[in-house]
Amino acid sequence: MYHLRTLAEISRLIYNYSACIIDQKVSELYPFLSTHQHTFILQASENNKSRALKATIEDWLFSHKLKRNAHILIIGGGITTDLGGFVCANYMRGISWSAIPSTLLGMVDATIGGKVAINTPFGKNTLGTFHPANEVFICCELLASLTHQEKKSGMVEMIKHLLVDCPGKLSSLNHDTLLSQDSILESIQIKERFVKQDPYDKGPRNLLNIGHTVAHAIELQSDFKISHGEAVAWGLVIEGYILKSAGKINPQDYINLKIILLRLFTTPPAHLSFDQLQPYLALDKKNQSDIVISCPGSDNFLYTPSLIEWTNAFKSLCQSYIPQ
Ligand SMILES: NC(=O)c1ccc[n+]([C@@H]2O[C@H](COP(=O)([O-])OP(=O)(O)OC[C@H]3O[C@@H](n4cnc5c(N)ncnc54)[C@H](O)[C@@H]3O)[C@@H](O)[C@H]2O)c1
Ligand SMILES: [Zn+2]
Repeated sequence: MYHLRTLAEISRLIYNYSACIIDQKVSELYPFLSTHQHTFILQASENNKSRALKATIEDWLFSHKLKRNAHILIIGGGITTDLGGFVCANYMRGISWSAIPSTLLGMVDATIGGKVAINTPFGKNTLGTFHPANEVFICCELLASLTHQEKKSGMVEMIKHLLVDCPGKLSSLNHDTLLSQDSILESIQIKERFVKQDPYDKGPRNLLNIGHTVAHAIELQSDFKISHGEAVAWGLVIEGYILKSAGKINPQDYINLKIILLRLFTTPPAHLSFDQLQPYLALDKKNQSDIVISCPGSDNFLYTPSLIEWTNAFKSLCQSYIPQ
């Protein structure tokens, strides 16, 4: 359940909760959001989305004697809400939480649908569960302080939503309009429709993982120097090529997807090859005996590319960048 709120409104909201968990940058930029007497400030990094920080936050909740009726407010991007939400899912067998997503990606994706998780050395989001936020407060004023890079990360997930829901819209897409409140709400509604149909990710919701087999591998290989959003952009280009070649997505939709993504991220990461990425691709949670990718138009929403399909897709990406 999401609600639109102004900055002034969210600054009053914090006192309705037992405790707040907030991203350090957000707390520095908007100090009035960390004035609750029980406020845990965390530094958002993928390496901190960890068992160690989960334990630290749990101990902090215990030290404040929070019980099963506690209701936590989590303010931050996807790292903060994934980690904080996972703590809430486990603490006292589950306490309720609400979210103020502070990044575009958090608004349209991470706080919608209840997936919460942390990373382990065995892969991205490999410990997690479903524990939806009671309320999600969307405050578009928070987007003003995001860097261009962080805005682009959110736009990639919005583009992914359009690809799986209404790919025809990719042909006329303008990056600036993606930042409008209307586009943000449209993107949330697309995600909510998939979640409602398949809350536990056993069927059609899996389509929202398109691009993510490759994305998670790129994030791990780069030791998280490449952001989730940028990794998803390259994941969509590579997995999209495989799906287009296999007749699973329309070739024109793929061209439109690639054009819009390459306007956001112009140069692929160095050393991006199937051989280099394969050990990390093998860690993906969706895998069965082989590496799989999410796929529209197949019975189980999964597709198993052959070795030649993988190598062709990586080759096609690299060829786009050979100087003419
Ligand atoms: N649970 C889900 O369904 C789901 C969906 C998509 C992504 N995710 C997860 O979300 C994470 C990525 O989220 P993200 O891109 O929001 O990253 P993030 O939480 O790291 O935020 C990105 C950066 O922006 C900063 N920041 C946050 N809000 C700000 C603001 N208002 N102004 C200025 N700076 C601000 C943060 O400190 C951080 O440096 C990944 O770990 C990914 O796995 C989860
Ligand atoms: Zn994602």
